[in-house]
Amino acid sequence: MPTLEAPIPHDSAATLPLTSRVVLIGFMGAGKSTAGRLLAAQLGWQFVDTDAAVEAKHQCSIADLFAREGEGKFRQLESVALARALGQNNTVIAVGGGAPEVLTNRLLLEQTPGTTVVLLEAPFPALFDRCVLQEGAATRPVLRNAELAERRFHEREQLYRRCAQYRIATESIDPGTTAKQVLQVLLGARG
Ligand code: S3P
Repeated sequence: MPTLEAPIPHDSAATLPLTSRVVLIGFMGAGKSTAGRLLAAQLGWQFVDTDAAVEAKHQCSIADLFAREGEGKFRQLESVALARALGQNNTVIAVGGGAPEVLTNRLLLEQTPGTTVVLLEAPFPALFDRCVLQEGAATRPVLRNAELAERRFHEREQLYRRCAQYRIATESIDPGTTAKQVLQVLLGARG
């Protein structure tokens, strides 16, 4: 079994389980971006973070987009970024926590061939603490109101689970271990 200490051999990457794209979904703070980047490095694949793609394309932070254009506009731009990322092979994609709320995005995830969706899960208090205590809520507008954020967390739970083929609990593991577990799941699914 390959470990995270060294990239896995190219042949192994090429024969990953009928999968050309791995998409990490889950609520804010679940570790999608950090674990996704590590996983991509292990596979020798490219990494796309849809939030970063939106920010780069529109030269604007997510917080400013929410403030200037509203969440609806951000969701449209996020869908475009997701569709674009799903058009590429050998790609690990971390999507923003709200992406599965949008039907178009759920259909894209379900219907793009060769796409494996993995849900990174943790209880709300752990995620909230990770995001707000470590970074503050300024970069994540959806977390500004804790009560509303928690409601959204619960509303999203079922959507996340419906989109995902696999689930990984990340409350007590670091992003390196998360990436390793995703890899194990993918390799286990081979053949
Ligand atoms: C959001 C999650 C954020 C970002 C935006 C909205 C959400 O991404 O897309 O602030 O609605 O959950 P991360 O999950 O990567 O923090």
